[in-house]
Amino acid sequence: MQYSLDLIRTTLRGLYPPGEISYFTRMILEELCGFTTVDIVLHKDTILRDEIHKKIASIVERLSHYEPIQYILGSAFFCGRRFAVGKGVLIPRPETEELVDCIIRHNRDVKPSYIADYCTGSGCIAITLAKSFDDAKVEGWDISEAALAFACRNARDNEATVEWGIRDVLAYEPRGNCYYDIIVSNPPYVLESEKATMERNVIDYEPHNALFVPDENPLLFYDAIARIARSELRPGGKLYFEINSRMGDACCKLLQNKGWKEIVIYKDSSGLDRIIEAEKEIC
Ligand SMILES: C[S@@+](CC[C@H](N)C(=O)[O-])C[C@H]1O[C@@H](n2cnc3c(N)ncnc32)[C@H](O)[C@@H]1O
Repeated sequence: MQYSLDLIRTTLRGLYPPGEISYFTRMILEELCGFTTVDIVLHKDTILRDEIHKKIASIVERLSHYEPIQYILGSAFFCGRRFAVGKGVLIPRPETEELVDCIIRHNRDVKPSYIADYCTGSGCIAITLAKSFDDAKVEGWDISEAALAFACRNARDNEATVEWGIRDVLAYEPRGNCYYDIIVSNPPYVLESEKATMERNVIDYEPHNALFVPDENPLLFYDAIARIARSELRPGGKLYFEINSRMGDACCKLLQNKGWKEIVIYKDSSGLDRIIEAEKEIC
């Protein structure tokens, strides 16, 4: 195995920080050989089959072009479950796990019956909520057919029941079915001007329509989804957003101006504004 480990290290040295190269090594050997971190140490002198070494060489070659490891291996972990990912769908992020965790903790006693996830992507939020709230009917909406194909597959693989549909939140006219208990969204929120600060593995590979919003209208998705939620949540129902950490106050103001109650911003584990919770007034 030493030969393969050397290939990973020498090819990626200088392209990624050492900690990330160790992380890739663990991911690759776990995926191809089923090795844990301890196994990697124990099997250092094991000779890997030629076929495995060739697979490692091909993965390393793709990593050297900054392709995300999750796209190369075809999956990512989210809240302890495996989700298929690939071209056309955003890789679930740890911040979004914190959003889902917040929703689960705050609604344990409410036992929600109807939940909608807008901009669902891989379906990671919708599926995790469907697995956490046994009796809830969960829907996941997105504009992208490619993303929804992954979401469907992920629901099947994780044995979750979610209803999926194509919906453009910027064009959708809500029908006023006031019965949802929770509406959640992690919409595109990265400013075009923030592109310059982002890593190549994101910019060159992940779908830009999942990430970016114009600098001159950064809250367009929040505005549109809050309008839908105001019409479709039941009185007292909850709206949850993941937000750009620079937009906490602006999002808060937007919701206040639209009559939302009990607006709270929560910070993520890095101490940045990341989640907004708001409640639809009880008329
Ligand atoms: C930041 S990603 C979130 C994906 C997933 N919910 C997650 O947390 O990993 C935003 C998603 O919004 C979708 N999207 C972009 N524009 C949209 C629109 N106008 N209507 C509905 N969905 C849209 C993209 O296809 C993408 O899947």
